[in-house]
Amino acid sequence: MVALPVLLALLGTVLPAVAGDLEVSASPREATLAQGGSIQVNCSFLVCDRKDSELGLETDFSKVLVDYGTNWRLFNLSGVDKDSSPICYLSCGPGHQGTARVSLTVYVFPEEVELSPLPPWQPSGQDLTLRCLVVGGAPRNRLTAVLLRNEEELSRQPVIREPTEVMATVPVGRGDHGANFSCRTELDLQAEGLGLFLNKSATRQLRTFVLPATPPAFDTPRVLEAGTWQPVTCSLDGLFPALEAQVHLALGDRRLSATVTYGKDSLSATASLEVTAQEEGDQRLVCAVLLGNRSLESWRNLTVYSFPEPILMLSATEASEGDLVMVQCEAHPGAMVTLSGAPAQPLPQKSQLLLNASAADNGRRFSCSVALEVAGQVLYKNRTQELTVLYGPRLDESDCPGNWTWPEGSEQTLRCQAWGNPSPQLQCHRKGDNTSLPIGHLRPVKRELEGTYVCRAVSWRGEASREVLVTVLYKPRNMVIIVVLLAIAAIVSSVALTMYFYNRQRKIRKYKLQKAAEEALNLNGLGEPAPAHPELASSQTQQC
Ligand SMILES: *[C@@H]1O[C@H](CO)[C@@H](O)[C@H](O)[C@H]1NC(C)=O
Ligand SMILES: *[C@@H]1O[C@H](CO)[C@@H](O)[C@H](O)[C@H]1NC(C)=O
Ligand SMILES: *[C@@H]1O[C@H](CO)[C@@H](O)[C@H](O)[C@H]1NC(C)=O
Ligand SMILES: *[C@@H]1O[C@H](CO)[C@@H](O)[C@H](O)[C@H]1NC(C)=O
Ligand SMILES: *[C@@H]1O[C@H](CO)[C@@H](O)[C@H](O)[C@H]1NC(C)=O
Ligand SMILES: *[C@@H]1O[C@H](CO)[C@@H](O)[C@H](O)[C@H]1NC(C)=O
Ligand SMILES: *[C@@H]1O[C@H](CO)[C@@H](O)[C@H](O)[C@H]1NC(C)=O
Ligand SMILES: *[C@@H]1O[C@H](CO)[C@@H](O)[C@H](O)[C@H]1NC(C)=O
Ligand SMILES: *[C@@H]1O[C@H](CO)[C@@H](O)[C@H](O)[C@H]1NC(C)=O
Ligand SMILES: *[C@@H]1O[C@H](CO)[C@@H](O)[C@H](O)[C@H]1NC(C)=O
Repeated sequence: MVALPVLLALLGTVLPAVAGDLEVSASPREATLAQGGSIQVNCSFLVCDRKDSELGLETDFSKVLVDYGTNWRLFNLSGVDKDSSPICYLSCGPGHQGTARVSLTVYVFPEEVELSPLPPWQPSGQDLTLRCLVVGGAPRNRLTAVLLRNEEELSRQPVIREPTEVMATVPVGRGDHGANFSCRTELDLQAEGLGLFLNKSATRQLRTFVLPATPPAFDTPRVLEAGTWQPVTCSLDGLFPALEAQVHLALGDRRLSATVTYGKDSLSATASLEVTAQEEGDQRLVCAVLLGNRSLESWRNLTVYSFPEPILMLSATEASEGDLVMVQCEAHPGAMVTLSGAPAQPLPQKSQLLLNASAADNGRRFSCSVALEVAGQVLYKNRTQELTVLYGPRLDESDCPGNWTWPEGSEQTLRCQAWGNPSPQLQCHRKGDNTSLPIGHLRPVKRELEGTYVCRAVSWRGEASREVLVTVLYKPRNMVIIVVLLAIAAIVSSVALTMYFYNRQRKIRKYKLQKAAEEALNLNGLGEPAPAHPELASSQTQQC
């Protein structure tokens, strides 16, 4: 039973004229079905009137006769797991056969659609190769693989071999940072009315970066003093995406904690660096910027130095005039000391100066400058100290002139300044009447100012005094006024004299008359005693 139809089929193909004389048909002639699915095949013939005719379906799949008629048989094929071509055959007596072929196509979705991992970081500007592995899937002539960037199709290729890896190379730019790449298969069974079946891989997100060709730049002094804080800055421009970059700052083996500020395509890391005396010497400052799978590194030499301030000492900061004061400045070995006003010294790190304190030294600032050469740079540290010299009150001809001669009425300023530390109190008084001299004000000179004054400057350190002679010159204009005044006085006095003598003559006459009257009364015994001072009495009368 099995060998016959195969033989018939062979004959059918090799000798179609002999074997194909009977008309057999199969329905459907071709079909596409899901793998493992079932299908009903109707085998039928037109003409065969022999009782021993035989109609059947030759297939490896399990089949069940579902229904039949006189010239047809309906079979249910199930478990169809691969493409095959079952054959309907008819045997109508010896030598009369016929066959009809059914073409069954099995479709199956890919088992695996996978985009191979992207590099963790892809340098921008370099081409990226995408690979998509497709395992399974049939029929292959309807299966296509599509590579996608986000929703955009990059490449569309047929899936042929098993398994198949489809590849595409795409240029990568900055805009691809964060793009989602994926791969999908399309099983197109629309012609069969079954539709379009998509299978999608997991997406893979791309990270791309740009690092400039220039290394990070430092903004840091080349020398650092132990015990001080210094900002250390390292910056880099032209990197993308700046926010994803990391900065590593280290001095020698010591990692510095930096604060990173990000710009659009730049970053700047700043650390506050304190170096200790143990780190004295040359140190390597390293700045590394890590982005993607690469890093850019810069380093620079830093010289750490110790430079204590010079010790500037005065044997006394307050001295009396004539005291000896020792000024000494000392620095640590290796430094060069310069003490202002001091002569050349045998040792470079020490300088001293012996001073006989004078009034001119009061307020003098002694400055000591120490120079240290560090890595080709000369560094300075300076200290200053002020000397106070106490000296007694002093009145000099230059500051308190002893002889002023001024014309009367002119505007003058009396100048007298006493020197001393502490500042003395100055008072000038005229000899004789103790009038004080108005010092320091611009005022018109009056004649009364003239005289010899004694100026005394007093402080707790002693006193000094000095005579100041003020001479006022009178102007001729004043003499005229005096002459006029004198003339007026003369006239007034002569008028007064004239009137006096006139009055006196009148009184004498009156007296004589009175006397004559009294004498007449006395003769009658009624006379009063005569006044003791007849002139006074008469004048009293006159006044009334
Ligand atoms: C099978 O095919 C024959 C001939 O075309 C037809 O007459 C018959 O109805 C079919 N049977 C079924 C169940 O469709
Ligand atoms: C054909 O056989 C399979 C398996 O026995 C069954 O699931 C299916 O329903 C059958 N088809 C028809 C049309 O009877
Ligand atoms: C960084 O990754 C790219 C792409 O994956 C690779 O070509 C390059 O060699 C890598 N560079 C380093 C330093 O690992
Ligand atoms: C890629 O996918 C992630 C999450 O899966 C999403 O946040 C991101 O926006 C996507 N990128 C683009 C360019 O669509
Ligand atoms: C492929 O896609 C179909 C629908 O399109 C789905 O039923 C099937 O499970 C998918 N296969 C895989 C392996 O994801
Ligand atoms: C850094 O210092 C080392 C030794 O301390 C020296 O050899 C090197 O030349 C220096 N480099 C620069 C760039 O100054
Ligand atoms: C300081 O100088 C004054 C005058 O110049 C002098 O009289 C005095 O003796 C000096 N003092 C000393 C200690 O040399
Ligand atoms: C210290 O003194 C040196 C030399 O006298 C001078 O060049 C420098 O400017 C001074 N520095 C300061 C901070 O005063
Ligand atoms: C004061 O100065 C005048 C001239 O300016 C001079 O004639 C007079 O002798 C001086 N007197 C004294 C005490 O120096
Ligand atoms: C002059 O006057 C001052 C105060 O104005 C006084 O202290 C001083 O004793 C007086 N001198 C004389 C000699 O009267």
